[in-house]
Amino acid sequence: MNILKQALNGITGGKVLDVASGEGEFIKTLVGNLRRYAELIGIDTFQYTKAAGSIFYAEDVRFIQMDAKRLGFSDESFDTVSISNSLHHLENIPQCIEEIKRVLKPGGHLIIKEIHRDIQADPQLNEMYLHHWVAEIDSAFGDYTHNKTFTRQEIVDFVKGLDLSNVLFYDISNTNLDPMDEAVIRENEKIIDRYIQYAYTARLPDYKKLRQRGEELRQRHHEVGTQWEPELIIVGEKQ
Ligand SMILES: C[S@@+](CC[C@H](N)C(=O)[O-])C[C@H]1O[C@@H](n2cnc3c(N)ncnc32)[C@H](O)[C@@H]1O
Repeated sequence: MNILKQALNGITGGKVLDVASGEGEFIKTLVGNLRRYAELIGIDTFQYTKAAGSIFYAEDVRFIQMDAKRLGFSDESFDTVSISNSLHHLENIPQCIEEIKRVLKPGGHLIIKEIHRDIQADPQLNEMYLHHWVAEIDSAFGDYTHNKTFTRQEIVDFVKGLDLSNVLFYDISNTNLDPMDEAVIRENEKIIDRYIQYAYTARLPDYKKLRQRGEELRQRHHEVGTQWEPELIIVGEKQ
């Protein structure tokens, strides 16, 4: 059984909130892996795009445009709350975590999934460098939070204050992925091209240096390949 299945199969979701759901990738994972769920709501500050339409038009999955800093839900109104690969996108993590705690019922499950930078393989460094380069360009625009990848311990520390019970940690190393997978390398090259173009169009003062780093990243992708960064899943119950 894969680790995600192992983490989610035992959870009866009930009424589920997925925070910062983006285009709903993790919602697909929840739909496919939770033991059961009654209703699923995804929230994000961005309006969802057409790509997510197939998920959010499903009868039991809804999307609401909302800020995680001020969740418009009553106290203790969800049986499960999840947040996947979005902690490093939040402007005020403690405030969002407090909100998540407020809307979660006692005994309800919190599921956190987040990439981290306790890297185990050289190709993963490439993915991390790319992520940091993208985050730097996103941040230069000023209106979008995109932090560097956290360490595993930093993620654990964010959750400590929640005083959860029955906490389980699942580590996904991702070192089994083929680092020279041409499709993945091609996708990353498209990201590099897109971000060089953003930096150019926005006339970022460091454009030349950013472009040079982008080209070095492209080169490294061809030399050592790339592998998704390791991920930590934390599942715990609110006391
Ligand atoms: C990496 S993406 C989402 C990934 C998604 N959870 C998944 O698993 O596919 C990060 C998301 O965080 C959202 N975000 C950032 N700050 C937010 C906030 N304060 N409230 C809600 N969403 C936020 C962004 O709009 C973006 O869609």
